[in-house]
Amino acid sequence: MGTSIPLRLDDTAPRDLRGRPLRDLRISVVDRCNFRCPYCMPEEQYPRDHEFLSKAERLRFEEIERLATLFAALGVHKLRLTGGEPLLRRELPELVRRLARIPGIDDLAMTTNGSLLAAQVEALRAAGLKRLTLSLDSLDPVTFRAMSGGRGEVATVLDAIAAAERAGFASLKINCVVMRGHNDAQVLDLVEHFRGSGHIVRFIEYMDVGTCNDWRQDLVVPSAELRARIGARWPLVALEPNCGGEVARRYGFADGAGEIGFISSVTEPFCGDCSRARLSADGKLYTCLFAGAGHDLRGPLRAGASDAELAGLIRAVWNARDDRYSEIRAEAAGPREHVEMYAIGG
Ligand code: GTP
Ligand code: 5AD
Ligand code: SF4
Ligand code: SF4
Repeated sequence: MGTSIPLRLDDTAPRDLRGRPLRDLRISVVDRCNFRCPYCMPEEQYPRDHEFLSKAERLRFEEIERLATLFAALGVHKLRLTGGEPLLRRELPELVRRLARIPGIDDLAMTTNGSLLAAQVEALRAAGLKRLTLSLDSLDPVTFRAMSGGRGEVATVLDAIAAAERAGFASLKINCVVMRGHNDAQVLDLVEHFRGSGHIVRFIEYMDVGTCNDWRQDLVVPSAELRARIGARWPLVALEPNCGGEVARRYGFADGAGEIGFISSVTEPFCGDCSRARLSADGKLYTCLFAGAGHDLRGPLRAGASDAELAGLIRAVWNARDDRYSEIRAEAAGPREHVEMYAIGG
């Protein structure tokens, strides 16, 4: 008999309290980042001596593989590697190779700031990485530098995009977080640059993630406003979602030059069919990007829990999930505990 049937721990995939299945797992492999984007890890909050996770605290590759296999058995079919900056974790292609062979996983992607990508992109592709998302907040060198906290060079990211194309990543996603007065004046340049390239630029509303970015509503540029500005220059048509639970609303250029997307967590929340779980580098399971705390999986894992026990724990956490932060943001306003974005990778 063949052995390629996905491991099934029991017949029912877990549903949360709102009936949402567990379909996607975003795995943060390291909490460090070499950038200091003002919307995520502002420099003044994270000085150079800030203490990040130690190697011993981080899950080892075999631990990540084991957990991902259990998540796959519970219905996850899509994995995304994130950080911090995931490429700061050594030997990442080795992790990709391990994850790519898990039965039931049909999509394996990574989100990166692109600064360290060019040298590794071929190895990542060869290891089985299927899709890549790069962050690129502006094409203007001065604005880009400011949006990376003075750490990044736009030319490096453009080189990484070219290297990714050569390695066979035909359609990249390019993420741009838009902050009013910071980079919103350069949105049309980004669209123009990537129109017709096969890559998909997505504009992300600046969110109140974490506790340190001094988020203000007036710095958010609503997607409807951007859509109107872009559509006035290049007429747009709404496209159907590729799949349920997609975070971006898709729009095509009426002239056929490809598509763009808008991720509008602030003005058009998409919690209704959110099927995403997040695993931090130290093995905590978060059921929402805005969760106050995670559920420790590393403790039981290292204490010798069986597959069935770990799967039971994950199932119980998911069954008890009631998160829909973006839908109740206004009511939730005020001082609060939030996991930091760089700890769970967006
Ligand atoms: P695909 O749809 O698989 O291509 O990827 P994705 O859009 O889920 O992944 P990506 O890492 O590119 O996500 C883009 C950004 O959307 C993240 O960095 C977050 O800013 C935001 N985002 C992703 N998932 C969620 C979510 O569940 N809730 C909220 N509020 N924002 C999210
Ligand atoms: N608002 C929106 N997106 C954010 N990201 C990080 N911080 C924020 C924020 N405050 C997302 C961006 C970035 C990815 C790693 O995380 O998409 O590209
Ligand atoms: Fe910027 Fe991503 Fe690093 Fe956060 S993790 S500082 S968003 S590059
Ligand atoms: Fe999912 Fe939480 Fe984002 Fe809503 S706010 S879409 S529940 S991660």
